Amino acid sequence: MRRIGVVVNGVTGRMGYRQHLVRSLLAIREQGGVPLRDGTRLMPELVLVGRREERVRAIAERHGVERWTTDLSEALDEAEIYFDAQVTPARAAALRTAIAAGRHVYTEKPTAEGLDEALELARLADEAGIRHGVVQDKLFLPGLLKLRRLVDGGFFGRILSVRGEFGYWIFEGDWQEPNRPSWNYRAEEGGGIALDMLCHWRYVLDNVIAPVRSVSATIATHIPERVDDSGAVYRATADDAAYATFELEGGVIAHINSSWTVRVFRDELVEFQVDGTEGSAVAGLRRCRFQHRAGTPRAVWNPDIPATEAFRSQWAEVPDNEEFDNAFKVQWEKYLRHVADGEDFPWNLWEGAKGVQLAELGLRSAAEGRRLEVAALQAPQPTAPRGVAG
Ligand SMILES: NC(=O)c1ccc[n+]([C@@H]2O[C@H](COP(=O)([O-])OP(=O)(O)OC[C@H]3O[C@@H](n4cnc5c(N)ncnc54)[C@H](O)[C@@H]3O)[C@@H](O)[C@H]2O)c1
Repeated sequence: MRRIGVVVNGVTGRMGYRQHLVRSLLAIREQGGVPLRDGTRLMPELVLVGRREERVRAIAERHGVERWTTDLSEALDEAEIYFDAQVTPARAAALRTAIAAGRHVYTEKPTAEGLDEALELARLADEAGIRHGVVQDKLFLPGLLKLRRLVDGGFFGRILSVRGEFGYWIFEGDWQEPNRPSWNYRAEEGGGIALDMLCHWRYVLDNVIAPVRSVSATIATHIPERVDDSGAVYRATADDAAYATFELEGGVIAHINSSWTVRVFRDELVEFQVDGTEGSAVAGLRRCRFQHRAGTPRAVWNPDIPATEAFRSQWAEVPDNEEFDNAFKVQWEKYLRHVADGEDFPWNLWEGAKGVQLAELGLRSAAEGRRLEVAALQAPQPTAPRGVAG
């Protein structure tokens, strides 16, 4: 058994607590760590960090984690890896501190609020010779893994288009409790759905379909006033919907709607339909259904009679064929093996910067009312990073 210290910052937040602490790191501890190449197992030893002492202590006690603190530099002294799931504006400074201390860093997205800072963090991390990673959880969802399987198997022929629908209703807070924290609706606190979601769409499109070449977006703040947890009314200064069209390499057109002001009439909270010359598929978080060209019915337009076909029943289910674990946990295991074993881990701060780039361009495209090209980001050839635990 090898042990590796992991600082978890932002552990009182929704993502930090549920996805990263409980479903990933504690689950990895419960299963006895992560197996390494030499047959030993790597056990993450956690140091929890948060701003409010009583809340961090309560979480630590609830889950039997011995080490916790409100002091980041104290935590960094005790661990090899720094993980960040704080609110977005707090992230860059904490990552800089951790990188300067020589810690390996893993972080939630967006890595920074702007591209310049995101690139600077990637450069600093390379210069420090540390191993860095960015959460790109959607790539490890069962639905998208099955979609990827179809792409890799050549099912689609030439891919023509992608249409994505992401979103659900976020209560305004006046008569039902809001289901997301209020900073998400304040631009000055790092909020906004474009910054939040275009980071995801960048790596999903780049990795599953084809690299993104341009963006044209319209954003809106449909609900101008909301009520926070304490009952105070505030002005929503950030966008709560982003309607974005992307051109991908090879001429694929992707359009993705992201909205916190939409009611769900879908099977899952996010769905992507991919249409190709040989077939089509619809992937959600867990399911993926497909229709081959040979099974495509001849549609007849006749609004004078009720629909004669049950369109959804004409699609087949892509089988699981494997067991899927929590997407965040799967990526955590890969990151831990990257640090300890040097296993390939392409989802680094350079890739994270691409997400920030697309969000920034999407917002600019909306402000200027025009389509913008996505310039290639040249990541310098990294010098071999050093490992730890070996
Ligand atoms: N990968 C994903 O699917 C996904 C989903 C949602 C959010 N996120 C990202 O995760 C991060 C956290 O989001 P969340 O929804 O968990 O937020 P949250 O508000 O629930 O949690 C934020 C955390 O940051 C801490 N924090 C540090 N400095 C703060 C400050 N100045 N003000 C307020 N809180 C501060 C809070 O104490 C808390 O622990 C964000 O960067 C967000 O973009 C990622």
